[in-house]
Amino acid sequence: MRWRQADFGDLDGLVWLEQYFPSDRLSRARFRYLLRHGHADIRVCENGGGIAGSAVVLFRRGTGIARLYSLVVHPDHQRRGIARGLLQAAEAEAVVRRCREMRLEVRPDNLPAIHFYRETGYRITGGIEDFYEDGAKALTMSKNLVAAVKPNVSSRPPQRPAPGAPCTTP
Ligand SMILES: CC(C)(COP(=O)(O)OP(=O)(O)OC[C@H]1O[C@@H](n2cnc3c(N)ncnc32)[C@H](O)[C@@H]1OP(=O)(O)O)[C@@H](O)C(=O)NCCC(=O)NCCS
Repeated sequence: MRWRQADFGDLDGLVWLEQYFPSDRLSRARFRYLLRHGHADIRVCENGGGIAGSAVVLFRRGTGIARLYSLVVHPDHQRRGIARGLLQAAEAEAVVRRCREMRLEVRPDNLPAIHFYRETGYRITGGIEDFYEDGAKALTMSKNLVAAVKPNVSSRPPQRPAPGAPCTTP
């Protein structure tokens, strides 16, 4: 297995994987936009030539907060630590960008995902009514990255944020 940052050559694989996301799937146009603009970190896990999992994190300038926007692993490859590896790499990247916290939303009925996030250090912080396209509520979860993540576990060498890179609140 190999973890790496996604590029435009991964578009087909990223869109294909989204079918395994419970709802509000990211479109090809959305991935294109995210790949082109520097406010997102998109990671994939390759296995046997194909993409077995992906994670998308958004960064907003000056907030110190990163948002896990999508995390999905192909059903054939689940329970092998792929999501854990993707999330660790995404969190390390967020720390490199000086984010203090990772936030996410999850459907209350997505018990496997909630269990996964609890296992990886996230706690439930609240809820947002009428969050998903079908009107379902979201649970919000959060993790303090300062306390939990060592920057040197990044899947790429630690580096200074690019000029103007978001999330640069000290
Ligand atoms: C949630 C998801 C990303 C987990 O991916 P994964 O690669 O299977 O997760 P990992 O193998 O890294 O699991 C790490 C730990 O999380 C927990 N976990 C993962 N999947 C679980 C499940 N289905 N049920 C209960 N606990 C689970 C376990 O504690 C697991 O450790 P273990 O296998 O040693 O018991 C995957 O099930 C998925 O893609 N689901 C569909 C998309 C989705 O719901 N994404 C999240 C939306 S917010």
